[in-house]
Amino acid sequence: MIRSLKQITQLILKAKQAAYSQMKGSLEPAFTGPVKWPVKCTVGPGLEGAIACESTVGYVNGSLGALIYRGYDVFDLCAYSNFEEVSYLLIHGALPTRKELEEYKQRLVQYRYLPATLRQLMSFPVEQMNAMAALRMGVTLMRQEFSLWDKETGRRVTGQAIGTDEDSIPMETMPRGEPHAVYEFENAYTHKGWTAAETAEERATGLRTCYHLLAGTPTLAAAVARLRRNQMPLDPDPTLSHAANYLYMITGRRPTPIEERIMDVALILHADHGMNASAFATVVVASTLSDMYSSIGSGIAALNGPLHGGANEQVVRTLLQIGRPSNVKAWAANALAHKHKIMGFGHRVYKTYDPRARVLGPLAKHLAGEKRELRDLFETAIALEAEVTAKLGAKGIYPNVDFYSGLVYAALGIPLELFTPTFAVARVAGWTARVLEYLQNNRLFRPRAIYTGPLNLKFVPLAKRGQKKRT
Ligand code: SDX
Repeated sequence: MIRSLKQITQLILKAKQAAYSQMKGSLEPAFTGPVKWPVKCTVGPGLEGAIACESTVGYVNGSLGALIYRGYDVFDLCAYSNFEEVSYLLIHGALPTRKELEEYKQRLVQYRYLPATLRQLMSFPVEQMNAMAALRMGVTLMRQEFSLWDKETGRRVTGQAIGTDEDSIPMETMPRGEPHAVYEFENAYTHKGWTAAETAEERATGLRTCYHLLAGTPTLAAAVARLRRNQMPLDPDPTLSHAANYLYMITGRRPTPIEERIMDVALILHADHGMNASAFATVVVASTLSDMYSSIGSGIAALNGPLHGGANEQVVRTLLQIGRPSNVKAWAANALAHKHKIMGFGHRVYKTYDPRARVLGPLAKHLAGEKRELRDLFETAIALEAEVTAKLGAKGIYPNVDFYSGLVYAALGIPLELFTPTFAVARVAGWTARVLEYLQNNRLFRPRAIYTGPLNLKFVPLAKRGQKKRT
């Protein structure tokens, strides 16, 4: 039973010790160290093994079961840091000084407020929408918060030259006597002498955009959760940390210090994870020089799939379906016999225990100990983990981040449909960091496909199609 924050740190360091005691092998040379392009790599379907770019943001070692953010082991960041510091580290590449951290926190608190966006979001039937689709729409709407007014400088930020983009605000020009209003989009690029940083900001690809998205997605996700329950969104609480404010805006209750710390650790664990499907989607969109809001929207779309981020929700549904530990053996035998993928297990990169599950498991155990209704689910999860790893461990199939995260979120009062949006709320740190990094040396992504279709076919006019071939 966890009674103090110190015990959470000890739990994390114990998980680190267990991970290190089982680590066999060393860093994969093919995936670390200086790069001399072009690189040779063996590529499988789904770009398995392909090297998309180089990065200093983060590194996943699948054989060791290690996760690194900007050179720091994720166990150490969970034990000694917090999500504000870690998201700063991912975006800026170094841990903040006290002054930098204070300024950063103020910016994040300021950007939590999305009045214009929430007002528009509430005009949509959010309660009938897939929560991730609602979050993605909210991120698109967020973009216009800066089309109207920049809170920082207090200056009117002109509409982006984004033409048909639905979230731009047509600036109606003063009627010049024409028979109809002439709509035109004020063109940000008409401003002479802007610095590169200002242009990047106006192109919605700068640091301010990263902070805005990092601070705004929790507000959006919490609003989606409440609207789906026919409750009004809550205003952010500027006195609360990122993690505590997120829980508060969802539940309406300020979390205990232990709940806040567990949420903070879960956000750190989900903040980045190499070039996974959703990170790749964000960088691909960014490589076309689209804006950061569109990039993050594509990451949210990718994460929604149950093979990627959506598994955490499916895990809890599976545990509810199994019902109790005594049903696990029969359920697992049936799933494996039908070659069903068991949600929360397996990973494209980890062929050992996911380090994040090593921390989330014991946290779920503590929280389940406090909530009767979760205890049975947790006991079933433990039994399922034992059964699946006994059957598939030899194939490198172990619990991944999604196996226990849902139990932690449920215990913290996060509703089921908000599990994957919560994953996205944390992952915005890694996504924005990787987009910023990739744009420093941008190269439009344009892989190829091997064409296996027919060639040199002769065109058949419509009149002759569908007639039986005369033999
Ligand atoms: C995340 O990439 C990241 O970093 C993602 C992520 C992140 O932080 O961003 O870590 C988050 O996506 C975690 C994964 C969440 N998804 C799930 O839990 C869904 C269940 N998992 C599987 O769908 C699967 O394990 C994947 C998709 C995650 C990984 O797919 P792979 O490596 O491409 O696996 P595979 O299909 O090549 O499997 C190899 C074998 C197959 O058997 P054979 O055909 O060789 O007989 O292992 C089997 C698979 O059937 N297998 C599983 C299984 N996962 C793999 N069998 C049963 N249950 C599973 N979960």
